[in-house]
Amino acid sequence: MLVTGAAGVLARQVARHLVTAHGTRSLLLAGRRGPAAEGMSELCEELRGHGAHVTVAACDVADRDALSALLAQVPADRPLTAVVHAAGVLDDGIVQSLTPERLDTVLRAKADAAVLLAELTRDTGAALILFSSLAGTLGGVGQANYSAANAFLDAFATRGAAEGRRAQSLAWGLWAERSGMTGTLAEADRRRISRSGLRPMATADALALLDTALHSTEAWFAPADLDTAALRHSDGPVPDLLGDLVPARVRHTTRTAPTASTTPAAESTGGGLAERLAGLDPSARHRAVLEAVLAQAALVIGHDTPDSIDPERGFLDIGFDSLTAVELRNRLSTLAGVRLPATLMFDHPTPERLAAHLLERTAPADPPAASPVLDLLGAWEAQFADAFADPALHDGLRLRLRALLDRLDGIPAPAPDAVSGVRDLDSAVDEVSDDELRAFLEGDLDDA
Ligand SMILES: NC(=O)c1ccc[n+]([C@@H]2O[C@H](COP(=O)([O-])OP(=O)(O)OC[C@H]3O[C@@H](n4cnc5c(N)ncnc54)[C@H](OP(=O)(O)O)[C@@H]3O)[C@@H](O)[C@H]2O)c1
Repeated sequence: MLVTGAAGVLARQVARHLVTAHGTRSLLLAGRRGPAAEGMSELCEELRGHGAHVTVAACDVADRDALSALLAQVPADRPLTAVVHAAGVLDDGIVQSLTPERLDTVLRAKADAAVLLAELTRDTGAALILFSSLAGTLGGVGQANYSAANAFLDAFATRGAAEGRRAQSLAWGLWAERSGMTGTLAEADRRRISRSGLRPMATADALALLDTALHSTEAWFAPADLDTAALRHSDGPVPDLLGDLVPARVRHTTRTAPTASTTPAAESTGGGLAERLAGLDPSARHRAVLEAVLAQAALVIGHDTPDSIDPERGFLDIGFDSLTAVELRNRLSTLAGVRLPATLMFDHPTPERLAAHLLERTAPADPPAASPVLDLLGAWEAQFADAFADPALHDGLRLRLRALLDRLDGIPAPAPDAVSGVRDLDSAVDEVSDDELRAFLEGDLDDA
């Protein structure tokens, strides 16, 4: 068996497991550092102690010539039966900071290498076991390049299997054991991952899931420990894909009933911001929004309590970076029920200023006076009800209405030809004020 990324923590554990639990007797371990990687000679000694024949090679598996030369070393009397492709690198950053080079770095080790491995081992009939990540399925903060690389692996294995090859992509959740990739995660990052519903897996549990996958004929697996209780009690965004596990109504009610596992910072945030504000005297609203901002900020940067955050101090000075800024934006968007721009924290650089902005966006509006424009909106509403009943119009409507909300929120709109079929909406929209339109859209779309 060939294991790529062999110096990595997961690959080492898998190599051990293959030898001790699956009786693998011949292993080719490949990584760019080869035998020079720390701990490799000890690993080889250990595996040989179990009776395995082990070869370690320095090989960049995304390099066609190097990989071809490596595969040429496979002895005829021990032909290749499987490839475990566990090579990978990270280059995290918010999407605006990603350059073609930063995409290449991450795609190369995972996707390019997988394509080469498939091509160069096709004649051997060896099984392809690709190590992917749940980031490809659910997304990950600051991991657009990594998510794309893993999504590619998932699709590539699925296609390979459909074409008759033994191919599997395992979209791993987080392993508890720290690796080259996860070793730099700070405590705040780990808490963020836990809040997103992923419990770190003990190595033994992960290897048991590996066995489950290997014994199945499914091309795609997500071996992960999903903590649905954490998702249910989260007041942050839940990935769409997990929505069925955590229905919106359940989340809504449980938000106001934090469990013992919820941190003190999370407890103080309570439920939907607009609902809380509606029940407060106007003079108390700023304080309530500020408390919510401070509680979410504390949660994101891993403080146990919001008390240690000075509301007048800049976010950057209290430890925020571009990734945590995005997470805070996402959490506040969910809490406030409004779409907020990615630049939120830079436009409103202290908790005080951000709270003032959020209050403007979420404060309950005074009841609107009667006007002909509102009558027009009433007529629209009736037409929208018809459109909501027609599933064929949903995608077009959703896209169009989102684009309008983005305009209201100052977020650049998508290309005009990205939507079609609802052009008459444009002229009608121009006849009402932004505030009226926003109130209408946010109220009615939430019900839809
Ligand atoms: N750890 C987790 O919780 C987790 C979760 C989800 C998915 N995964 C996936 O599991 C795999 C292993 O991850 P890990 O956590 O064990 O990371 P890791 O410790 O950083 O191991 C990855 C290894 O890949 C090797 N590598 C990178 N580019 C290569 C290339 N072009 N050719 C050959 N080897 C290359 C590196 O060694 P050299 O520098 O010597 O080349 C490195 O040791 C990755 O694909 C990762 O995406 C891990």
